[in-house]
Amino acid sequence: MTQWTLGIIGGSGLYEIDGLQDRREETVETPWGAPSDTLVRGRIGDVELVFLPRHGKGHRLTPTGVPYRANIAALKAAGVTDVLSISACGSLKEQYVPGHFVAVDQFIDRTVARESTFFGPGMVAHVSMARPVCSRLSALAADAAAAVGAEMHRGGTYLAMEGPQFSSLAESRLYRQWGCDVIGMTAMPEAKLAREAELPYATLAMVTDYDCWREEEEAVSVTNVLEIMGQNSALARQAVVKLAETLSGTERTPSPDGIDTCLDYALITAPS
Ligand code: ADE
Repeated sequence: MTQWTLGIIGGSGLYEIDGLQDRREETVETPWGAPSDTLVRGRIGDVELVFLPRHGKGHRLTPTGVPYRANIAALKAAGVTDVLSISACGSLKEQYVPGHFVAVDQFIDRTVARESTFFGPGMVAHVSMARPVCSRLSALAADAAAAVGAEMHRGGTYLAMEGPQFSSLAESRLYRQWGCDVIGMTAMPEAKLAREAELPYATLAMVTDYDCWREEEEAVSVTNVLEIMGQNSALARQAVVKLAETLSGTERTPSPDGIDTCLDYALITAPS
């Protein structure tokens, strides 16, 4: 029976997973350099978890400075079957209230200063990003978060910005006109790289603020992001444990969205 090996990329405020059996740390290196930190491995039931804090311990890496390629390559090499990314985000719509969770299903990528592919030069691949999130993993993660008490939104469009500064009012209004639901600085190019690595990927975004568009609210600041993160990171950790408990004892079959084999239809360069 194929078992689940869950890669968990923890964002701001999520630096550990509770209740890991056989907990061990692995320092790894990839052809794209070192990942953000050592991998923390362990088991919950028969599910293997591989945890990576996106910004490194002590939050050392800026959103631009995160080694996204090394992080995904390290998780792939560690035998991860599916990647759950957890990150803080701002809200671009009234109903996404600080404290709520969003199982994001679409992205608009406005990052400009990050390496965003494993391919080229010398090898050309164009993977589909039409549906960037694994529908199965996203639903399972949303179920787990709801089961531990999170106020969950299923589906939502995440605008990925470069940062590290927050948006101007004009930008925030523009993204609302585009129909975006939440805004953050880290899910891209992570989602693209996970797809290129044939890793089913989903994002649980934790709403920490109303960005700056909402007139009756003070504009987003690090203080209010950290305050809500502090309240919510315990819920995110419980959601991860719940997800692993749910999957324990079940067989891991390929993603229903064909992500495990998506390169079969994406490579252009002939093998030499
Ligand atoms: N992360 C948390 N809140 C954010 C915001 N308002 N904009 C971008 N990234 C964020």
